[in-house]
Amino acid sequence: MSQRYLVTGGAGFVGSHLVAALLDQGAEVVVFDNLLTGHRAAVLPGATLLTGALEDPDAIEAALARGPFHAVFHFAALSLVGDSMRDPIGYLAANVGNGLRLIDACVRHGVPRFVLSSTAALFGTPDRMPIDEDTSIDPGSPYGDSKWMLERALAWAERIHGLRFACLRYFNAAGADPLGRLGEDHRPETHLVPLAIDAMLGRRAELAVFGTDYDTPDGTCIRDYIHVTDLATAHLAALARLDQGSVTYNLGTSTGHSVLEVIRSVERAGGRPVPHRIAPRRPGDPARLVASPARIMRETGWQPRLASLDDIVATALRWREAHPGGYGG
Ligand code: UFG
Repeated sequence: MSQRYLVTGGAGFVGSHLVAALLDQGAEVVVFDNLLTGHRAAVLPGATLLTGALEDPDAIEAALARGPFHAVFHFAALSLVGDSMRDPIGYLAANVGNGLRLIDACVRHGVPRFVLSSTAALFGTPDRMPIDEDTSIDPGSPYGDSKWMLERALAWAERIHGLRFACLRYFNAAGADPLGRLGEDHRPETHLVPLAIDAMLGRRAELAVFGTDYDTPDGTCIRDYIHVTDLATAHLAALARLDQGSVTYNLGTSTGHSVLEVIRSVERAGGRPVPHRIAPRRPGDPARLVASPARIMRETGWQPRLASLDDIVATALRWREAHPGGYGG
């Protein structure tokens, strides 16, 4: 019999790609999403979409009543570092409150496994690279702290109630489904890869490069871009590993790329220049964030398959060219 999964935030960027990976395996998938930032069209036809809010305990009960679920994947969250610096308590209340309500309901319904979308923003501004799971936790933002609080809550839910969990700390998710079914569509868009592509395609005037005076070889910030489909397969690998106990993994490729390198990759993929201008630093941006994914590779055999920046950018470009209005068009 096929396994059944509940995916909160399954209409969002990373969540929708995980739903695709689960469906591709023959699983039954129930998506729970409030569609505020997610898109109905990002939920592939094989999945069941329940539109509801994690603020509503009755809606959570109704979703869990669709079980029994082999696991719950929790993607739904506010996820902008800058917004969280402007509204710290609102961010903590939403992300932590919603996550705790869901974890509590999972415990009451006897859900055996819980997979949390966590973040590299837990680590603040570490001075040691690459960042492994033993790097000290020092969230530089309420957004990062909200994920850390949920990681801690899961540790208690396991200790007291036996809920197995995977905390998956994403570095920079980018790219699009290689089969062209799904892509990245945030409104407003704040992420580098889609913004650089849109500047190249003439859909926005130019890209602002936030700071060229960082302590990096070309002066721009370095990030570890990981293909969203590789993130999805990392969830499947982590899930399988839960049979042996709970896990916490950093998900990246171990390779960092600067903002200027991303611009050059987009130019290679599209054969046109990316109009850009130098702008001041964006508050809160660390100079360098690069993951060590050694633990998940060692413990599960997971490998990123689309690890090169050019592969990531090429898939993202293909989707944005094919969907000028994103999911709305
Ligand atoms: N950047 C620009 N111009 C832009 C947008 C981004 O120069 O218009 C730069 C940023 O300064 C940064 C890099 O491109 O150096 C990547 O920026 P993104 O906004 O794409 O991604 P972040 O690294 O800021 O954030 C991502 C996720 C967050 C998560 C964080 C953890 O979006 O949710 O990684 O490291 F918290």
